[in-house]
Amino acid sequence: MKQITIAIDGFSSTGKSTVAKLVAKALGYVYVDSGAMYRAITFFAMQNDMISNNHFSKDKLIAELPNAKVSFKFNDELGFAEVYLNDENIERDIRTLEVSNLVSTIAAIPEVRAQLVKIQKEIGKHKAVVMDGRDIGTVVFPDAELKIFMSASADTRAARRFKELSDRGETVSYQDVLENVQKRDHLDSTRKDSPLYKAEDAIAIDNSNLTIQEQLDFILQQVQTILKA
Ligand code: DC
Repeated sequence: MKQITIAIDGFSSTGKSTVAKLVAKALGYVYVDSGAMYRAITFFAMQNDMISNNHFSKDKLIAELPNAKVSFKFNDELGFAEVYLNDENIERDIRTLEVSNLVSTIAAIPEVRAQLVKIQKEIGKHKAVVMDGRDIGTVVFPDAELKIFMSASADTRAARRFKELSDRGETVSYQDVLENVQKRDHLDSTRKDSPLYKAEDAIAIDNSNLTIQEQLDFILQQVQTILKA
């Protein structure tokens, strides 16, 4: 059976990972959350006092990058791979608003991107992979057979993220979450290295009014069309 590469890019909190995980499960493919890797490096920088809201030791981080080993391990119970930093499971630590507020600064550094893109290409070299992020269809897998570009209104996305964080017990304000979403949109799409934009051959999905099932069905239909071609 022919195997393909599926790249899912888009703005933050568009539900890329939810749909990408389901697509991977339906096809028996590997799912990779590339954003988790940028979050892992951000967590590494926070832990080593290299970044906070009012300082950033960029050169120190670049020098220390070889000591930040980011990897994934499949969790059978959860049904997806969790992110590890130097063999420590940091899946929960990277989902805080604090990490979200700093991650775009870290993701703009070319040295960070080069290190992570190398790992992403390695994971995807045998295809049968669904990877979500910002530059997957443009930089990591420009030859991916299927590219999806997800968007939704900032309000819809902030409401989703707010619910997710509140459900997890984090005390956050809706306004702070909305501001984070808008700030990241801006930083991610205006940075110099690998900015977020829709690849010419990507299919755009605005999922403001779509259920997860509708998105999944649509993507699986596209996969079937490609496999039959
Ligand atoms: O998908 P996410 O919100 O977890 O991603 C966190 C940040 O990482 C996002 O604001 C931008 C950055 N990112 C990136 O620059 N390139 C990717 N392929 C994935 C994420």
